[in-house]
Amino acid sequence: LKVMISGPPASGKGTQCELITKKYGLVHIPAGDLLRAEIASASENGKRAKEYMEKGELVPDEIVVMMVKERLLQPDSQEKGWLLDGYPRSSSQAAGLEDFGIHPDLFILLEVPEDILVERVVGRRLDPLTGKIYHLKYSPPENEEIASRLTQRFDDTEEKVKLRLHTHHQNVEAVLSKYKDITVKVNGNAPKENVFAQIDAALTQLL
Ligand code: AP5
Ligand code: ZN
Repeated sequence: LKVMISGPPASGKGTQCELITKKYGLVHIPAGDLLRAEIASASENGKRAKEYMEKGELVPDEIVVMMVKERLLQPDSQEKGWLLDGYPRSSSQAAGLEDFGIHPDLFILLEVPEDILVERVVGRRLDPLTGKIYHLKYSPPENEEIASRLTQRFDDTEEKVKLRLHTHHQNVEAVLSKYKDITVKVNGNAPKENVFAQIDAALTQLL
């Protein structure tokens, strides 16, 4: 299976990817996490990427396209199938894959109202040890030990999420028009298990 998942900031892409990979064994390729790893490694690309991410804008193609493509073409992704999270976000990024003959089987779009997205961003916490995604209200940590080590993302403020949302709205139609024949729109404003049930139904049909 070759799957793309898209949606506004905090619509639940990462959360659904945890559930999808658990059941389908696909290789999860999260564009945002790959960029944050670049930042953590203090590389030139990481430094440049952070300037854009701070503003909630798209990181330039010359950084993102190669980074994702390299991960996608590794043997494990080719063998197990892949799940691209947050890529492509523009038609040029989609073209960057088409040039290499890379085409998805399914394009998932998560739909969530704006006020809910803001609440999700502000309450999101991450476990630096396991990479697991939490929410103070909707997915609280299992115990005190985990709770005490949770961190927040530098772009998870109400002000920054508005900028990220604006960028999403500017670009989403162009990407959707590329994949309209294989797009499934999913109501992301429901408990995560219910959201997954919708995705699971679409994926099962492809097997
Ligand atoms: P990225 O890291 O991808 O950020 P994003 O698109 O804003 O999405 P998020 O990761 O914030 O949210 P999510 O949809 O994964 O939600 P999650 O599951 O965590 O990208 C960051 C930046 O990198 C971009 O702004 C851009 O600058 C750059 N970038 C990335 N990709 C790029 C590309 N292709 N090209 C150029 N630049 C790029 O859930 C959020 C919260 O909600 C969590 O707390 C979770 O517990 C909770 N939650 C999830 N589901 C539910 C539910 N069903 N009910 C209640 N709560 C829920
Ligand atoms: Zn994410």
